[in-house]
Amino acid sequence: MAEAREHWSGSLGFVLAAAGSAIGLGNIWKFPYIAGENGGGAFVLIYLICIAIIGLPVMLCEISLGRRTQRNPVGAFKMLSPVRSHLANFIGFSMVFTGIALMFFQEFGWAIVMLLIGGLIIKFGWTVAGILGVVSAFVILSYYSVIGGWTIGYILKAISGHLNYTTETAAAKCFKDFMLNLNWVIPLHFGFMLLCALIILRGVRNGIEKWSKILMPMLFVLLIVLILRGLTLPGAIKGVRFFLSPKMEVINAETVLIALGHAFFTLSLAMGAMITYGSYISREQNLFMSTISIVVLDTTIAILAGLAIFPAVFAMGFKESSGAGLVFNVLPAVFNSIPGGLGWLWATLFFLLLSIAAITSGMSLLEVVVAFLVDELKWKRTKAVVISSTVIALLGVVSAVSFASWDRLEILHIALVKAFHINQGSFFDTMDVLTSNWMLPIGGLTISIFVGWIWGTRKAVEEIRHGSHNFADVHLISLIAGLKDDPSHNNSRYHVLTLASLWGIFIRFITPVAVTIAFLHQIGWLNFK
Ligand code: PHE
Repeated sequence: MAEAREHWSGSLGFVLAAAGSAIGLGNIWKFPYIAGENGGGAFVLIYLICIAIIGLPVMLCEISLGRRTQRNPVGAFKMLSPVRSHLANFIGFSMVFTGIALMFFQEFGWAIVMLLIGGLIIKFGWTVAGILGVVSAFVILSYYSVIGGWTIGYILKAISGHLNYTTETAAAKCFKDFMLNLNWVIPLHFGFMLLCALIILRGVRNGIEKWSKILMPMLFVLLIVLILRGLTLPGAIKGVRFFLSPKMEVINAETVLIALGHAFFTLSLAMGAMITYGSYISREQNLFMSTISIVVLDTTIAILAGLAIFPAVFAMGFKESSGAGLVFNVLPAVFNSIPGGLGWLWATLFFLLLSIAAITSGMSLLEVVVAFLVDELKWKRTKAVVISSTVIALLGVVSAVSFASWDRLEILHIALVKAFHINQGSFFDTMDVLTSNWMLPIGGLTISIFVGWIWGTRKAVEEIRHGSHNFADVHLISLIAGLKDDPSHNNSRYHVLTLASLWGIFIRFITPVAVTIAFLHQIGWLNFK
């Protein structure tokens, strides 16, 4: 018999670990930029609504799936799936037929994917949702770790005074040379994986929880220091304006979908991370309050990140840009332009912040894979960590190598183009598009349908109610009216607009529809322009 499952020492441990997973590169280099570009304050508002009505309910689903089953994602779906599900069979057969149809259009790559997944669904039913989660975690970590390696490399460069550029062009050239220098990038990527593996090796309490309790406060302090520096520069207000002043004219349906898409990634949803972390919660904890805390922390840090970055960028007369370009090409030059000659210090603190955010996210992805191997294949934790991190690290090398060009990977390139007609971007981009545009929305959709219609909201609420009575039983209208404690208004036997009933409606109807629309838009089948 396997050892007893480890649990978090308490709510704080869980909340910090899960917030560590959620707060990652998405918050620091993606959110501020998409907010600034898509309507500033107006976007932030739309994003908050998406987080509240889609992100939070789905997170509650995942966490309760995990706690109920005390298993990894595959085990969780397996345990709660009915023996036969007509819906699963229907989806499976539809995929197989689509696969066969695609053969006639010579789309062999996609045909094989459809046949494979369809076949798996017919055979294993809803458990396939868990399998997809574990596979997504595996794939995302392989390239996330390459970027994690860059951030560590940039700490080293900053400390040793090698980031002393004052123009964007010089910084960009330095970044390009760095990224293409495999003698640096690959060992750093391995280093990043090693750090994640060492933490995961120590288990839930002594590894994940202990390190989250150290790293998350550090991240917060670093962020505050950088915000103070940025906001006190003359002209900082221009950055705040870019980031937060509402620009209603750029808001459209597209904006909402961007916000929705980002909500899944930033909250670490739809790939089993929250199911896995949820499976280490004991039954006394208040799931509802924990979920709210995680979501609030994630959102707060995203907004603070914008305040740490844009005021400095604008004050120093630089222009906004996005993603890796913003972080590696613009910021080093911004930091060095700040008067006082402490450019190296600001850069070091910033890249430390980024590394910490990446490590706590990376380790949650690794834990998904490890938990699967330990629960389902009964591997020892050590063996699971060593083997999975090695394989992921090797897959990551392909991403790392592919930044340069496809030159070094000609055969793979030809195969991909032939099979999937993917002819744009690097292998890294392909992985990113595959996971963010396809696997996450599909994962989110399956989780909400599964909890809403297969496992059932009733059983889910029963699970959530353990430790969080307020969730299921507080009458919402009474609460808003300030009559929460008035006995006649707080009748728990009738689920008339309690938080739980509201949640149920969202999970069954609103989330699936919203995610489907976002998905069709992302893959280009719906266009609002
Ligand atoms: N939420 C992380 C971020 O914002 C990314 C992530 C996704 C981490 C999924 C773990 C699981 O960067």
